[in-house]
Amino acid sequence: MAFEKVDEILEKHGYRHDALIGIIQDIQRLENYLPLETLRHISHRLEIPLSRIYYIATFYKSFSLEPRGRHIVKVCLGTACHICGATQNLEQMERTLHICEGETTKDMMFSLETVNCVGTCALAPVAIVDDTYYDAVTPEKVEKILSNYATESEGIESEKN
Ligand code: FES
Repeated sequence: MAFEKVDEILEKHGYRHDALIGIIQDIQRLENYLPLETLRHISHRLEIPLSRIYYIATFYKSFSLEPRGRHIVKVCLGTACHICGATQNLEQMERTLHICEGETTKDMMFSLETVNCVGTCALAPVAIVDDTYYDAVTPEKVEKILSNYATESEGIESEKN
């Protein structure tokens, strides 16, 4: 990441130490993950120990220190979703994307994650792609959901052929 963009984010937050979480959120939004060199830059600019930034970056599950795909696919495995077949949906996601939970496709299009209850149990089983919630997901619906995002993804294309 060009540090000019990072500096713009720091400027937007007024270089305030109490805005650290918001700064990290903006970096994550921009890059989809938190590159170590960027965290070092923030540490230097704000004169905050890197260990404090690293603590926040590893405390919240929504932050990632590893590169992630352009689209983040989350399968809810909370109790309500589990009872309604979320595990089968996760397995179908893994088969369709050719990755396991916690991994990213080679073309960097998708990262597959699990979450525990996103508070929409009445819609179970739920899957989320980026900010879009999908309700009553079934293994049969998985490929259609992913194909909405996969026009450039070889992985999904090969599933269709
Ligand atoms: S268990 Fe999935 S939304 Fe609550």
